[in-house]
Amino acid sequence: MTDQKTFKNSVKELSKQFALLLSELALYPSNHPHIAAQLQQVIDRLTAVHEIVEEVTIEISEGFFTFDGIPLYDIKLQTDKAVQLCASKGISRITLCRGLAPQQVSEFAQLLHDKTQAPTAEQVGLTLRTMGITALRVDSAVSRETDEQVPAGLAGKKTYGASVEANKLIYGALQSGQPLPLEVVDTVAKDITAMINRDPGTGLTLASLRNYDEYTFTHSANVAILAVTVAAAIFDDAALLQQLARAAILHDVGKTRIPVEILNKPEKLNDEEWQIMQQHPMLGAVILEEQKNIDRLSILIALQHHMRFNMTGYPKIPGHNTLHPFSLIVNICDIYDAITSRRVYKTPLPADKALAIMVRLIGNDFDPQFFKIFIQMMGIYPPGSFVRLNTGELAITVRARPQSLLQPDIKIISDPQGNLLAAPASVHLSAAAQERTIAEMVDPVSLGLNALDFL
Ligand SMILES: [Fe+2]
Ligand SMILES: [Fe+2]
Repeated sequence: MTDQKTFKNSVKELSKQFALLLSELALYPSNHPHIAAQLQQVIDRLTAVHEIVEEVTIEISEGFFTFDGIPLYDIKLQTDKAVQLCASKGISRITLCRGLAPQQVSEFAQLLHDKTQAPTAEQVGLTLRTMGITALRVDSAVSRETDEQVPAGLAGKKTYGASVEANKLIYGALQSGQPLPLEVVDTVAKDITAMINRDPGTGLTLASLRNYDEYTFTHSANVAILAVTVAAAIFDDAALLQQLARAAILHDVGKTRIPVEILNKPEKLNDEEWQIMQQHPMLGAVILEEQKNIDRLSILIALQHHMRFNMTGYPKIPGHNTLHPFSLIVNICDIYDAITSRRVYKTPLPADKALAIMVRLIGNDFDPQFFKIFIQMMGIYPPGSFVRLNTGELAITVRARPQSLLQPDIKIISDPQGNLLAAPASVHLSAAAQERTIAEMVDPVSLGLNALDFL
């Protein structure tokens, strides 16, 4: 997984450097030293990518450079102009093959800037071929698969990846004092709501993935997925659920104003640090109030998500003693995701142990009605958990069964000797309770397994 992530970062860096080359070409002649230096940056990134793959395709879609179906939101600022330039010529894909010479990259960039010679993608393509450049292709129309055409698991993975990228953009923008990119937040909120509407099991499995070094960005996505899944059990209102998704994505934006030494401190926070940490809900509400077009719900949830059902949490605001129902839902999902995640300073609690602890806090920290819905959708072994059966077989849980929380639907993925099955077998545990029961949860990291591979 790390290799895949490193590769994706290389493609992202390549896209960024290529966009910067296009920006420089708007300012300097092609023989200027600045251009040569920037071209070298592109070539270095291209070489790194081509060490791994023969060819790489970067798409231009809905205003973003996109790789592997996921918009590269967090390089939006640096790539906006380049994306516009490509889109103005109708280019929707750029494929760069091994063997592409630096001079050819330079010629392509100049071609994109040429307002007279190459007005369309077809003409850019034709000119490239005329110049003998075959290791670089452009396409004008992409037969993009829609979410309806791709399997729910794959569409879900893309939605999840896009929301993690979006969170990087949101955090980056706020940390550098820029306005919140609300259109990106709303795109992600809409996609998350649609994913849950299509298949809640996929959403919950994705929210069970634990990525050590991207907690800041996965946490908001997970909380949004969990909260919308709980709320969807009560409200059949897509616009309202989308509003909740947006608010959940933004619930911790106040943390952008908390020093990283405190956010990531490996040891327990001292009193003074804890006081600072507790300011993040209020800071979040203030940040959001400063934004244009932000709704009241997002501000309320940022402010209230640590106040707790019995109002013993923080911040304490005299006279403020009624919580929005969605704040109560986000509170449950927030705590669950925090204690089951791996962090610099702690190992994660397995889901079953986390839920056992949380059950004891019902009526105090957590609203009983919403917690009941939460546990019914999660079960004791939430979707995406790896479990060992009494037979010795290994399985992944697919969905909870509200009537029998200990017996979720599962897919058996290995035989009793630990050999992975070519085709995982779906089993309804409740129907086969005589033969198979869950013996224990297992840590997928220790077995080198990833729930994504079984979606
Ligand atoms: Fe928080
Ligand atoms: Fe949080």
